[in-house]
Amino acid sequence: MARVRFLPEGLEAEVPAGATLLDAADACGAFVGSACGRKCACSTCHLYVREGARALSEKDDREEDRLDMAFDPRPGSRLGCQATIEDASALVVVEITRESRQAFLDEHPAERKKLEQGEAPRAPH
Ligand code: FES
Repeated sequence: MARVRFLPEGLEAEVPAGATLLDAADACGAFVGSACGRKCACSTCHLYVREGARALSEKDDREEDRLDMAFDPRPGSRLGCQATIEDASALVVVEITRESRQAFLDEHPAERKKLEQGEAPRAPH
């Protein structure tokens, strides 16, 4: 099983090869948006890969085009719904973009409420 760690909170999931970064986020409750339902049609699952990029599938043209429309794309940018783990022994560390975190909270008002009440993981200030 590969490990995927989500910054800034440090939540971590163990997932098999073939899982996407978004699958890993779902597995550990990380705040990663998915507004289009994993169809590569938004950029709310935008992540910055900090470590382990070589363990992931290559970007295809659709993902590149979609990332061009994301807020603040960087060299390590990936879409969580498109980046698939290929090395089951890897540690992949990703940072949740502000755009993605905001989209998640917009999509999950109950989680937003927990966050406001101090019951959910907070991003460090
Ligand atoms: S969930 Fe929309 S592009 Fe990934």
